Amino acid sequence: MSQSQTKGEILAGFLAPHPPHLVYGENPPQNEPRSRGGWEGLRWAYDNCRATIKRLKPDVILVHSPHWQTIVGHHVLHVPQLQGVSVDPIFPHLFRYHFKLDVDMELSAAIHDEAREGGLVAKKMTNPNFRVDYGTIVSLHMLNPDWDIPVVGISANNSPYFYDDNVGQEQMLKLGEATARAIAKTGRRAVLAASNTLSHLHFPAEPNPGLPEDMSKEVVMSQGQYEWDVRVINLLRAGKLDEFFSILPQFMREAFAEVKAGSLTWMLAAMGMPKIPAKHYGYGTVIGTGNAVMEWNLAEVTR
Ligand SMILES: [Fe+2]
Repeated sequence: MSQSQTKGEILAGFLAPHPPHLVYGENPPQNEPRSRGGWEGLRWAYDNCRATIKRLKPDVILVHSPHWQTIVGHHVLHVPQLQGVSVDPIFPHLFRYHFKLDVDMELSAAIHDEAREGGLVAKKMTNPNFRVDYGTIVSLHMLNPDWDIPVVGISANNSPYFYDDNVGQEQMLKLGEATARAIAKTGRRAVLAASNTLSHLHFPAEPNPGLPEDMSKEVVMSQGQYEWDVRVINLLRAGKLDEFFSILPQFMREAFAEVKAGSLTWMLAAMGMPKIPAKHYGYGTVIGTGNAVMEWNLAEVTR
């Protein structure tokens, strides 16, 4: 049933990092490899997001993933149901996940149309055999392991890499605004997910290949990188988005931050740059990268 008669809204947004290790550590039935656990700090942090989503009961979860990188334009998943096996190309021994997801087709089409209206190059991804990238799948699994809410997956156009950071960020602002217009027009109660790690320098090899979940080997890649993450998290916790965006280019350069791919900028732009304190649920490293699980809750902010 179309919900376009009612005005849509964005209920909440999550910084939802996607290391496949988190799914590996959880041992859900969809993932083939088995583990002894691991990365509990981040996985327990995600429990808070799961509880928020259960409470808010959104119509749809949208995720922007750095690992669905598209060369020409911004793509949206546009097949009613997608299923298959998503494999992490770097960590195939940790992540071979049997996914099955429903796409919100009306919203997906609306984002495509609004993006074009806003001057962006956009395309609907209509290949029924498309293998959804592990970034999209990990973030969605960690947020909603029941997979009982339709989704819209959005690609990361590679403009920050092909052109430069400024072009990339400008594109993400427009894409976020187009996403917000599409949500409003289709009447959806939506939750957004920015599938981003923060600092992204990592170990060149697994410290213990025989036991990837060996937590005695899991440390920050460098003190400088850790301090960058803390600085960024503190700004977001304080709702200081202007200051965050002013240091973002330097953060991306010096900490090789994955936010360069634009997911967080897209999400904050879609939410109208909410200068509210983000809830910080947890920080942890995965092979040395910095990961924070955070929530911007617009629906419950005044309670
Ligand atoms: Fe990544």
